Amino acid sequence: MTLLSVNNIEVIYDHVILVLRGVSLDVPEGGIVALLGANGAGKTTTLKAVSNLLHAERGEVTKGAIHYRGDRVDRLSPNELVRRGVIQVMEGRHCFAHLTVEENLLTGAYTCGMSRAQTREALERVYAYFPRLKLRRKSQAGYTSGGEQQMCAIGRAMMARPAMVLLDEPSMGLAPQIVEEIFEIVRDLNQREKVSFLLAEQNTMVALRYASYGYILENGRVVMDGSAASLRENEDVKEFYLGVAANDADGGRRSSFRDVKSYRRRKRWLA
Ligand SMILES: Nc1ncnc2c1ncn2[C@@H]1O[C@H](COP(=O)(O)OP(=O)(O)OP(=O)(O)O)[C@@H](O)[C@H]1O
Ligand SMILES: [Mg+2]
Repeated sequence: MTLLSVNNIEVIYDHVILVLRGVSLDVPEGGIVALLGANGAGKTTTLKAVSNLLHAERGEVTKGAIHYRGDRVDRLSPNELVRRGVIQVMEGRHCFAHLTVEENLLTGAYTCGMSRAQTREALERVYAYFPRLKLRRKSQAGYTSGGEQQMCAIGRAMMARPAMVLLDEPSMGLAPQIVEEIFEIVRDLNQREKVSFLLAEQNTMVALRYASYGYILENGRVVMDGSAASLRENEDVKEFYLGVAANDADGGRRSSFRDVKSYRRRKRWLA
């Protein structure tokens, strides 16, 4: 069954800057769907269109429609969406730096009117998935590692017991081993808590290992989509994203066409 359906949307910032054109995508119930693409392709904009956070950036969905569980949701407030179980984890792991890890997690429960007992239970559930957060619960979030802050941001979203999480670039700036740890937890949350994920990532290689389906965005359009397995095997994807990543000097974190070009220049120079 389709949980989220984005149909042919167009997004304009500041009344004139056309950023998304005719973007369509589906997330099945219980799925992990990857939204891939280079810098500026429109991944974050797509997630914000779904979570209705575009207005804060003077952006607007000007065409198309978004449905969640069959209901039209592109006119709802972000709060109403959270109430229905859709939560976005923003790019750049936004934690409250001056609060402790546990206080950060508790802010995630605040909006959904839980009792003390329910909050406690939600907290223990989050700690069960993120043992590192339990160890660091009393630490000020601003002093924890990048990986712990990303976990804290995802954990905070989980406090509200969402059905769907829009996860924006969880791998950003993190060491490969930590990225792997975070994606393993995402998979766990997907399988055991039945949370569906729409996952924006520049790290194509990792995302396609954990997702079941992927969409590739370029300049605000979907240029390719398919099962994760078929995208991993696709020659263009391999060349432009995976191939480079495998050879890339900095461990495969960069994966845009621009990086392909600079990589080739580097190679020529070395030869
Ligand atoms: N508030 C805004 N006002 C005007 N233009 C914007 C705004 N936010 C984003 N853009 C533009 O929209 C395009 C898509 O940006 P977006 O952040 O969605 O890309 P992205 O795929 O998430 O990139 P990244 O991988 O760097 O996070 C870019 O050209 C960007 O400059
Ligand atoms: Mg982004």
